[in-house]
This record gives sequence, structure tokens and C-alpha cells, in this order.
Amino acid sequence: MTKVNSLIAGVVLMLIGCAPVRAQQEGTAINYEAESKVFRVDAGGVTYAFGINERGELQPLYWGARLRSTDKLSAAHIKPEHASFDVTSSVTPQEYAGWGAGLYVEPALKISFPDGNRDLVLHYVSHRIDGSSLTLKLKDVLRDVDVELRYQIDSDTGIIGRSAIVENATKEPLVIDQAAAATWTLPRGTDYSLTYLTGRWAGEWNLQHEAIRPGQRVLESRRGSTSHQNNPWFAVARGGAADILQQDQDSGEVWFGALAWSGSWRISVEQDQLQQVRVTGGFNAFDFGYRLMPGGRLETPVFYGGYTREGFGGASRLLHRFELGKILPQSPHPKPRPVIYNSWEATEFNVNEAGQEALAEKAASIGVERFVMDDGWFGERDNDHAGLGDWQVNSAKFPNGLAPLIQKVHSLGMDFGLWVEPEMVNPDSNLYRAHPDWVLNFPGRPRTEGRNQLVLNLARPDVREYVFNFLDKILKENDIAFLKWDYNRNWSEPGWDAVAPEDEKQVYVKYVENLYSILRQLRAAHPGVEIESCSGGGGRVDLGILRYTDEVWPSDNTDPFDRLTLQDGFTYAYTPGVMMAWVTDSPNGFAGRTTSLDYRFLSSMQGGLGVGANLLKWQPEDFATATRMITAYKQVRETVQHGSLYRLISPRGGSEHSVTESVAKDRSQAVVFAFLHSSQFLYPFPTIRLRGLEPEADYKLEWIEGRASRAPSVASGAYWMSNGIDLEMRGDFKAAAFRLERVQK
Ligand code: DGJ
Repeated sequence: MTKVNSLIAGVVLMLIGCAPVRAQQEGTAINYEAESKVFRVDAGGVTYAFGINERGELQPLYWGARLRSTDKLSAAHIKPEHASFDVTSSVTPQEYAGWGAGLYVEPALKISFPDGNRDLVLHYVSHRIDGSSLTLKLKDVLRDVDVELRYQIDSDTGIIGRSAIVENATKEPLVIDQAAAATWTLPRGTDYSLTYLTGRWAGEWNLQHEAIRPGQRVLESRRGSTSHQNNPWFAVARGGAADILQQDQDSGEVWFGALAWSGSWRISVEQDQLQQVRVTGGFNAFDFGYRLMPGGRLETPVFYGGYTREGFGGASRLLHRFELGKILPQSPHPKPRPVIYNSWEATEFNVNEAGQEALAEKAASIGVERFVMDDGWFGERDNDHAGLGDWQVNSAKFPNGLAPLIQKVHSLGMDFGLWVEPEMVNPDSNLYRAHPDWVLNFPGRPRTEGRNQLVLNLARPDVREYVFNFLDKILKENDIAFLKWDYNRNWSEPGWDAVAPEDEKQVYVKYVENLYSILRQLRAAHPGVEIESCSGGGGRVDLGILRYTDEVWPSDNTDPFDRLTLQDGFTYAYTPGVMMAWVTDSPNGFAGRTTSLDYRFLSSMQGGLGVGANLLKWQPEDFATATRMITAYKQVRETVQHGSLYRLISPRGGSEHSVTESVAKDRSQAVVFAFLHSSQFLYPFPTIRLRGLEPEADYKLEWIEGRASRAPSVASGAYWMSNGIDLEMRGDFKAAAFRLERVQK
């Protein structure tokens, strides 16, 4: 028997207490067994396998809990025709199916050839195992269309990144009608439920949960960017329990995935006629049509997939670790998010040197580390009708440029950040007057405006250069540590008349590729600069943009109670280490709700803390509360941002309560945030039983806010996890928080 084996990692050491203990032999392996033609990946707690069947197709075999290395997986065999209506090519699952040969389920790739042929049948040609990556070459049975499939394995989490490169090796152009990064195939079964995220502006991150039934559920954006309405993340749980999210977060099988793409995208979750569930994701096929010239290549985004037996809690902890360790630009050790101040809600467009300096002084006095000036500092930008595109400092507001403000901010011990919206233009701007042809549009047709702005066509090389150059210039001329990169509308009329009509639809790919390349180039030229992805809140949060941005703005909605649910949904897919949350004024401008300052702080302290209130109106007691809270936050932020998150009580579904717990990587600290919506009928706050502590270690209780009816000051991890703690909390919109610190023996 021939065996090609790549053993990547060796032994995993688990730290229990302070003594390193040898855990079971784990590591990561990618094997190809030539006799059975089975490819097998073992990584983290996961085994993933597929084989080459008799026809030469790649056929999925297994995706689930890690198997013993001695467990042999049987070879791939094509499935028999189910009926004349369900031919064998449609009932045999494939890793990456071309549309052809009687395929009725979702194809991964569909191509139209110039002679009218639209049949594509992809068979295995060769493979390569290289460290933690596996690359396979497929080819159409008759035509020179090559597909390279890539599998990138993360040995820590078992998350696999899959993508494809389609190459036209024929002598004629062809059109790619649709192209996915991957199809994930689940073990056969009918007891699955699907969880996904929907929303709208100021109301992102709504968790949806439903049984998977025959047919397709399509998650997508047709908007040119990721979107508030749907996020490219999914989780499929076995068991189908309608309230699995409420009951036990930390057990049960969950398969999950996230697509790394910031353009129009599509994930289809499909249960076929033989109860096979597949999840296919990649470019959105709607209005796609990518012409590929001879020799041309199209690379898909990466579709990441993972598996856990530890429920939704385990799934998100794996994703968080993966994002922090492998995706973010500063991975594997991203710097913690500084405490920021942002001027938007305090001043809107009405920024000027004196006003910003006054805010900066107040911000510094409470412990803010980064002062960010938002919209309004450039061009004729007094409201949202004009100025976007004119990235020169407004000389009426800042007569001496930005330097005096930046110096002032530095002298106060903070670094300086600036808002930009590089991809947009107001028709009332010098940029638009000079280059009306730079916007996405169909010439001769009306142009739809959103917030009085149009989208610059970043796919154009000249627009790409313009955007890079103005940003590079601002960063060269000013000592700026941070850009808040905003994007405030979706596409409409996505025409690109500077290229041949047959190539116009490439805009869906080239725009996003250029966006990524600008971010890459900027980061290389200005390595100290951090960037936030904002799109009117959470309209552009995905694993694609997170490769180039250090944090995101999850929502414009800063109401601290609404935020509990938004933030809860956010953390199913994304780490709190990128989730910015500001404390703003009360009553909140969105919900009109009045909440105390400590409630607002504790809600925001579940992520990267910011302050966006008008500090010029604060009273001395507000400054005292803020100083106390920011000091407390700095003691726990490493744990909150980079630790393990346990969602102990969900705020969803009209819940009266919500509780989160974060545990430090070395389990030396846990921090708990608890919120009460409204007391009713004298019910006590539910007992909080912690998770993830060392059972044998002692932990000391330190209050940030609130108190317990009775609680020891020191007890074992086992005590806090089994007995728990009862908070004394009554009233409306109340909050409490505490730390548990491991006691050194
Ligand atoms: C939308 C963002 O989400 C806000 O935080 C703010 O930056 C405004 N744009 C400014 O126009």
C-alpha cells in the first residue's frame, strides 16, 4: 500500500494549573491513501475526508468528529440511480461539481462556452500535499478547463479554508456563469437546523434558526458588498431543537462556515431528494457572467468550514480563536483594541479645531487612548449633501490643517484616528465634477443616489490609484494611527462602460480585489496604522475584509439594550476582539431609551470599548463613573477581547436577563457581565454558573459593579461553576459585572 503522509504538528501540550501536562497525541495530518484513493485530513477535533470515485469525481466521505488514525474510511463509490428522474450524477455528492452530466443540485461551477455548450464535468487529475495545504487539480472531461481546488488546514481549530481557481486553457473565451469556493457536504440526515444572521441598518446581527427542509435556503447579498441584511456565515446543528440556542450553548454537533468575501455573495443550504445536505458558497451568481479569456484565471474567495461537538458556544470559540490567530492582519497576536473616543454622535458634521480639542481634553481625562475625529473635516462637508470625494482638509474648520489637533491629542497622551469614506462621492463635489465617469453607472440612464452619494467604481485602475494616493498622502502628511473606513450605501446600476460590454460584470470581482489590494498596499506602506471596517455600522463584516482591518463597527445603533442582542448575534460569527461598542448619550438617539451611565458602560465593555457621548455636557459624576469603568475595563480587556466567550444567558426572545462570561486564555481570570431588562413578580436573577474555569484552582471575586446576595470572596473554580453566584439585581435596565481572579498558590 502506498501512503503519502504529511504530519504537520506533533504533540499538543495542555496547561492545567501551572503544570504542563502531556495530552493525547494530536497534531495535524493530511493523508492520501493510493489504494482506496481517499484523501483524509485530521486537525484539531476534526476529520475531513473525500475520495476519487470510479468516474474520477471527488466525492465527500466524512466531515465530523476526529477519528482514530487507525480507523479506515472506505473508498468513494458512485451512488446508484435512484430513479430515472434522479440520475447517478445528481445523487452522488461531489466536492466541487460542474454543472453538467445531469446535475440537479446546486453546482459549484457553471460555464457557457462560445459554441453554446454549457456542459461541464470535472474529474480528478492530480494533487499535491504541501505542509498544511492540499491542492487538487480537476479538469473537464473534454475541454481544457482546469480547476485547482485548495484546502488550507488550521491545525489549531480544525477549520479548513477552501477555494478554487478556474483557468481557461482553451483557445476561446468562455463565460463563468457561477463559481463557488466550495461545497460542504454534511453527513446524511434530516434532523438538521440552520442558524444564520440577518438584519438591516441599525438592526444587524439577528439570529435566525430553523429546521432544514427539502429544497434550498439561500443566504445572499446582491448589493455589491457584504450587507447588513445577511452575513456570510452559517451554522448547521444536529438535533434540530428549536431552542437549542437557549438551552445548552456548549454541547451538540455544529458544522459552521464563513465566506471571506466583501462583495456580492451567496451561500445555499440545500437538502436534496435523498436527504443529503450541502452548503455551497461563493460569488453570487446573480448578474455574474465573468468572461475568462484564453489563459485567464478566476480565483474564488475562501469559504472556511469547521466542526465542533461543543455546540454554538464551541463553534464561536473556534471561530474567534481562528480569526484572532489566523485572519486578522496582526494575527497571531493582535494588539488589544485601545479605548477610543469618537466624535460622531457628539458633533456630527460640525467638527472644528477648538471643538475637537475640547472633546479631546475631556476624553483624555477619563482614560481614553485613541481620539477619532469622524465625518465633516474635509471639503465642503457640512452635511451629507456635499464634499465626499474631496479629501482636502476644510480650511474654515481647520485653518492650520490637522496638525494642531493631532499635536494636541498626542500631548494628551492619546493617538489620533480619522474617518474616511474612500469609495464614495457626492455629485456635489469637485471630484465628481472632474470625473463624472468614475462612478458605477449605465451611461444615459438615471443614477440612483443613497445618502446623496454615488459609488466610485473601484474596479477602474484610475479610481484605484486615486483612492490609494489620497489615503497614502493623508497618512504621510499626518501622524495618524487609525482610519475608520466607512462605506455608506449599496450598489445600484452597476455598469462599467470603460470596458467591453462582455467584461462589465467583472466589476463584481475586480472592485473587491482592488479594495483588498488598496488596504494591503496601505498597510504595507504604513505598518503602524490600524483600520476599522465600517459600513453604516455592520454592513461590511466578513472574513475577507478582516484580513486587512483590525476592528469593525457592528452597528450604528448604540442603544445599550439593543446592543446586547446585536452583540450576542455578532459573536456567533465574529470575535469580541474586533467588536467596537461606544457609550453614547441618554436618552439614546435611536431607541429614545434612558439608561444609566454604568449600564451603558457595561454593555459596551463586552467588546472593544469606546465613548461617543458629548463629553462637553457631562457632569462631574459622569466623569467619575467613566473613569472608574474605563479603569476596570483595562483590567479585563485582554480577557474580553482575546479570551473564550461563554454566552451564559441569551438576551434574545424577550429574555428578561442576559449574561456573558469571558475566560482568559490561561484561565487566570474570568469576567462576567449581567443585565436585567425589568424585574417582574419578584423573581430573583437566575443563578449564574460559570464555565471554563480550572475546577481545582481558587478564584477571588472582585466586583466591577453590583453585588451578590451571598457569595464567598474566594472559592474554587468548581464552586463557581457548580454552585454559581446569585446577583442581587432589581429594577429596569440594571447591570452588574465582576471578575474572578485565580489565586496564586
Ligand atoms: C456611518 C457610520 O456608521 C457612523 O458611525 C458615522 O461615521 C457616519 N457614517 C458618518 O457619516
